[in-house]
Amino acid sequence: MSDTLSPIDTAKFVAAKKAMDYVEDGMKIGLGTGSTAEWMVRCLGELVREEGLNIVGVPTSSRTAELARQQGIRVISLDEAKWLDLTIDGADEFDGELNLIKGGGGALLQEKIVATASDQMIVISDVSKQVDTLGAFPLPVEVIPFGWQTTKALVEETLVAMEVLGHQSTLRMNGEAAYVTDEGNHIIDLHLQRIGNARQLALVLNQIPGVVENGLFIDICDKVIIGHGDGRVTIRDIISGEESEDRVEFEESENIFADLD
Ligand code: 5RP
Repeated sequence: MSDTLSPIDTAKFVAAKKAMDYVEDGMKIGLGTGSTAEWMVRCLGELVREEGLNIVGVPTSSRTAELARQQGIRVISLDEAKWLDLTIDGADEFDGELNLIKGGGGALLQEKIVATASDQMIVISDVSKQVDTLGAFPLPVEVIPFGWQTTKALVEETLVAMEVLGHQSTLRMNGEAAYVTDEGNHIIDLHLQRIGNARQLALVLNQIPGVVENGLFIDICDKVIIGHGDGRVTIRDIISGEESEDRVEFEESENIFADLD
């Protein structure tokens, strides 16, 4: 680990650290996926190890499950947990109503199921993910491998009637091969540039045979914690409509950074 965290890593870290204010003893917590969520799992692990916090985590990907176990967090399945108190996750984009694009890390299906099965979803993010209108980030759509090319063509045809600027889509790759999700599916990324009616698009995409789920999270997120490179955090709550500011103080000598290189 370098002596100084980059501004982007500082922003992700302070957002994750601030999210710990909402964690309570005994909670069942959905653990998101991605680089920002990794900071959150590390912060949670620190609370478990150093303060004896008694929580269980439901991970949204095999990657997160592995990190959570390494961090000393007790991991259970969603079926064991049944319902969660809180999910904390990152996002690829969020708008003023806290609707999201997720799935850049390929875990949108488990992420959506877990967040929907939670009393509250908190998104942690750096400020670059904040947009006026969703759609600049390619929208991930998870499809089953059977007939994926036909599904892709159907999706593109459907987009023509939607309020979007672009209609192109690409199969996500992992080197030379198609990317495979934890559920054994593929991901088609939709290059829409601008989504005029995200709610409608989310519903319509899921009607197409072969589509398992899309990365639009509508009315799921309750709160966003936006981290800044100087250690400030902005907390925006969609239910109360309130926005507040805080600062997270930390030392880079903290144990949480110890195993990073
Ligand atoms: C994974 C996701 C992530 O939350 C999203 O891609 C943001 O990732 P990062 O924090 O690395 O920018 O949806 O499927």
